[in-house]
Amino acid sequence: MNTHRKTGMRRISATLLVNIGQLLTLRSAAEGPRRGAFLSELGIIQDAAVLCVGGKIVSVGSTKDALRDPWLKKNRKKIVEIDCGGRVVLPGFVDSHTHLVFTHARLVDFEKRIAGASYEEIAEAGGGIRSSIDGVRKASKAALTQTILATLADLARHGTTTVEAKSGYGLSLESELKSLEAIRAAAREWPGTVIPTFLGAHMVPAEYRGRSREYVDVVCNEMLPAVAKRKLAQFVDVFCERGAFSAEETARIFAAAKKHGLAVRAHLGQLSETRLGPLLRYQPASFDHMDHVNDADLPALAQTDTVATFVPGANYFLGLARYPKARRFIESGVAVALATDYNPGSSPTLSMAMAMSLACTQMKMSPAEAVAAATINGAWALRLADRKGSVEAGKDADLAVFAVSDYREIPYWVSANRCALTIMNGVPSGQLCW
Ligand code: NIG
Ligand code: FE
Repeated sequence: MNTHRKTGMRRISATLLVNIGQLLTLRSAAEGPRRGAFLSELGIIQDAAVLCVGGKIVSVGSTKDALRDPWLKKNRKKIVEIDCGGRVVLPGFVDSHTHLVFTHARLVDFEKRIAGASYEEIAEAGGGIRSSIDGVRKASKAALTQTILATLADLARHGTTTVEAKSGYGLSLESELKSLEAIRAAAREWPGTVIPTFLGAHMVPAEYRGRSREYVDVVCNEMLPAVAKRKLAQFVDVFCERGAFSAEETARIFAAAKKHGLAVRAHLGQLSETRLGPLLRYQPASFDHMDHVNDADLPALAQTDTVATFVPGANYFLGLARYPKARRFIESGVAVALATDYNPGSSPTLSMAMAMSLACTQMKMSPAEAVAAATINGAWALRLADRKGSVEAGKDADLAVFAVSDYREIPYWVSANRCALTIMNGVPSGQLCW
C-alpha cells in the first residue's frame, strides 16, 4: 500500500478496511464502459485492504502491506479501522433507474394482474401510472421528502450508494417541480449520491387525454425550461412506448432537453419494439428495459456509449415469461447495466442483489457480469464513471461490505440481504450488522 503521504489527517476522517476476503475492484486500464468478455473482469484482490480519506479512496492493496505501512502505523489512532473478517467488499451498487417519488403501493393493480389482466389493460382501465398521480399531487413536499429519505436509507441497507431518482408521478408543472425539489431536499440529507431525472413524459395525464401533442408541448415549453432553470435534474427521460409516447414525440422531447443543456435517456422496448437509430442521434446515456429490440440495431448501439439497462425486476413482478436477451447484447459488444426500476407499478423492489439474481437465472448473465453491470456500467449509464463504480485510488469512497465469502453468493442467496455495511462518500453506515 503505497499511500497518501501528508493528507492533512487532523481534520479529515479516515477509514481503513482490512481483512477483506475478496475485494472486487472493477479497476480497468481501458476506456469506456465494460463490453463483451471484459464485462466479467472484476479485478479481484484477496486478503485486501482499502484506505479512504476525506470521502475518497486513497489506496487499495493487501492487508499485510497496509498493516506494515509506516504512515498508517503512525496514524492508526486517528483512523476508523473496520475488520471485514473475510467478507466480500465491492463498489457500492449504482442503481441507475428508480422511480422513488410516490405515495402508495398499487395493490388493486397487483390483484388484477394476478387475475389475468395485463399491464396495458390495467393502464387503459385507469390504473397503472395514472393511479399514482393523485397521491403525489396531494402530498406536501415535506411528506414526499420523508418518503424518499426512508427509501434512500433502505437502498443503502441493500448496498446501493448511488441512485438515479426520477420524477414522473406528478405530471403537472407544479407537481413535477415539487417531486424534483423533494428529491433534492432528501439528497441533501443522505450521505450517498442521488442523480435526479425529469420524467414529465411518463404518461399523458387524464386531463390531456386524446391531446398528447399538447401535453408534449407543455413538457417541452413549460416543464423542461423550469426544471433546467432551477437545476433540478441532470437527465430527461421519456417512456417511449405504445400507450405512452411515440418515437417522434420522444425525439421532440430529447431535442428540447438538449436545447436546455440536459442529457437524455429513455424507457424503450418494454412492451413493443422501437427502432433505435433516430433516437441514438441524441446520444442518450441509456436505453432502459430493452425487452423488445430489433437485432439489426445492436451493432449500431455497440458503437456508442449508450448503455442498455436491463430491469428484470419489472419482468418478474409483471409475471412475464420473456426477459431481455442479455447474451445477444453482450455478444454484440453493447454496454449493459442492471437496475431495479424501483416503482409501485412494475417493480416494487430496491434490491440490486435481486436484480442480479434475476439477471443470472433468467437472462443467463454470469455472476461476474451481473456485478459489473450493477456497479461500473451503472456508473457509465449515469455518466459518473470518473467518480463511481470501481474501487480505485481517487474515486469516491463508496463501498458495500457483504457477509459472504465469495461474491457469487450475492446473486445466489435469493431475495436475501447480506449487505453488512455501506460506506458512502467515506461515511460508514454504522457497525457491521452481519
Ligand atoms: O419502468 N414503464 C414505465 N415506467 C415504469 C412503470 C411505472 C409504473 O407502473 O408506475 C417502468 O416499468
Ligand atoms: Fe422505469
